Amino acid sequence: MGKGQKLYKKAKTLIPGGTQLLSKRPEMFLPDYWPAYYSKAKGIDIWDLDNKHYLDMSIMGVGACILGYADPDVDQAVHKAIDNGSMATLNCPEEVELAELLCQLHPWADMVRYARSGGEAMAIAVRIARTATGRNKVAICGYHGWHDWYISANLGNNYSLDGYLIPGLSTAGVPQQLRGSTLAFSYQDRKSFDAIIAEHKDDLAAIIMEPARGHEASPEFLKYVQKEAKRVGTVFVFDEITSGFRMCAGGIHLRYGVNPDIAVFAKAISNGYPLAVVIGKRSVMDEAQRSFISSTNWTERIGPTAAIATIKKYLQKRVDQHIIEVGNGMLGVWKVAAQEAGLKIHAHGLPTLGHFDFEGDNDLKLRTLFTQLMLERGYLAWCQFKVSYAHQEEHLKKYKDDCAEVFSILKKAQEQNRVEEMLKGTPSHQGFKRLVS
Ligand SMILES: Cc1ncc(COP(=O)(O)O)c(C=O)c1O
Repeated sequence: MGKGQKLYKKAKTLIPGGTQLLSKRPEMFLPDYWPAYYSKAKGIDIWDLDNKHYLDMSIMGVGACILGYADPDVDQAVHKAIDNGSMATLNCPEEVELAELLCQLHPWADMVRYARSGGEAMAIAVRIARTATGRNKVAICGYHGWHDWYISANLGNNYSLDGYLIPGLSTAGVPQQLRGSTLAFSYQDRKSFDAIIAEHKDDLAAIIMEPARGHEASPEFLKYVQKEAKRVGTVFVFDEITSGFRMCAGGIHLRYGVNPDIAVFAKAISNGYPLAVVIGKRSVMDEAQRSFISSTNWTERIGPTAAIATIKKYLQKRVDQHIIEVGNGMLGVWKVAAQEAGLKIHAHGLPTLGHFDFEGDNDLKLRTLFTQLMLERGYLAWCQFKVSYAHQEEHLKKYKDDCAEVFSILKKAQEQNRVEEMLKGTPSHQGFKRLVS
């Protein structure tokens, strides 16, 4: 057992759940064998606690590091911010510079508020929408974080949120009184959306959606929801925490020509430094002044400094073009490798958020074996690829050969019914569950 797994075992006795983010639990990838901790990360190179080197061809800081790890330009700006004092009694001017930049990128938006994590920024968006409308309920279509307002959608119906990213989200600790306050509808499903509007329109504060995630958006559906939001006088919110800055500089909604009243960003906007932003129309955002929304750490300097440097580099280097090209390349690599091995997979998704699954009921075990075999070959690899600017053609070429070899091993294992036997540990977890330490 490596140092990382040993440390993780200890972590589980000190930190409930072992990590701060479900998607960083080693059990989500390769129980007992995922390296778990890193000592250094640069570009797409990453070293574990035993100083073993891997190429990260997986999720790059859960989508946060869009330029690559320890990007020199962003880090230089951050170092300067630290040298000049990252926290003070006075405010940092970067907040204003970034607000202007975001409003330039999104001409429909006039005002900006900041937080430091995505879920927290979504809670701000909901508070602003409730303040602006004087209403209570929220309709959602997507994953929006861990806060009470969101998880309450599972109260009384444990499965309401299962279609969005993380199945099995528990309502433990969420007040029963919130039952019925957040209502889920399905993407492209006008019937489920219309039913919410018909029943709750007079008390609907916000309609919140991820404009696109697993696939390209349906502009018609987005336009329909936008039109209905306007008709019933509710605030239309796009959660761009994952989709933002992945297909273009700014929200993915810019590509579809459908503007919300509020959009929320985190993750890629600051290349892994903590920052989340809520941008919106003045008519809605200014209502935030009537509500107490305030936090000390939202005023530190590193987050906005990192975001300004990230966005400037993104624009200058046309990062979107590069990551779309490499991401499409990866979808092609998976498809060709599977075809050559005779393995049945579905590879799909936006090119910059690509993923695959194995056909049939052995998906989880095959996925785990894939991660295990790729780890042995020097990759952090999973069924998802969140491409970054640091991924180059040469990385893809190298990965292609190893992926082809691993897929053919998987095919043989499948034919010989040996998939489970070849796993060193247990299959990976899917969704939320309590860990047994
Ligand atoms: C669309 C979306 N909304 C909200 C969140 C929550 O953001 P955070 O993990 O920064 O709290 C995520 C995180 O994956 C997300 O993808």
